Amino acid sequence: GKDKELIRGSWESLGKNKVPHGVIMFSRLFELDPALLSLFNYNTNHGSTQDCLSSPEFLEHVTKVMLVIDAAVSHLDDLPSLEDFLLNLGRKHQAVGVNTQSFAVVGESLLYMLQCSLGQAYTAPLRQAWLSMYSIVVAAMSRGWAK
Ligand code: HEM
Repeated sequence: GKDKELIRGSWESLGKNKVPHGVIMFSRLFELDPALLSLFNYNTNHGSTQDCLSSPEFLEHVTKVMLVIDAAVSHLDDLPSLEDFLLNLGRKHQAVGVNTQSFAVVGESLLYMLQCSLGQAYTAPLRQAWLSMYSIVVAAMSRGWAK
């Protein structure tokens, strides 16, 4: 449908430059919730946000996040096939101390990155399409939190 076209069309160029776009996203995340910085324990001796943003481990995580988004975009016709993967991914995030509520802030940061990168192409329907896909991904990850 229209949603899938909007997502695929906008990801085509963004997905080719995962790291810089992911860095915009996570810079925004740490602006909105600086406490999340401490969950990245490779950010030792309480370095600055800037130190974290430039550390190789952090950039690897940014790449991992972008690859999950990439997988979701390529599986738009069959998102349930990612269910087990995402549930396990949720479990891993519970183990490192992430709270499911933080995913809403990650979503805001994703939209912020899209807005910065797409300019005029960032429209209300496009925003809604991304939000719907992101909600499905996050719902699946959240099922990894033991009740
Ligand atoms: C792993 C933190 C959001 C994808 C990790 C790790 C940490 C972490 C500490 C383990 C160390 C590492 O692999 O670098 C966070 C925090 C988040 C967040 C604080 C936001 C609140 C996300 C999101 C996604 C994601 C939204 C994807 C949609 C991954 C992947 C791994 C990972 C793929 C590797 C898991 C594995 O080892 O199999 N995350 N993460 N993360 N994260 Fe995140």
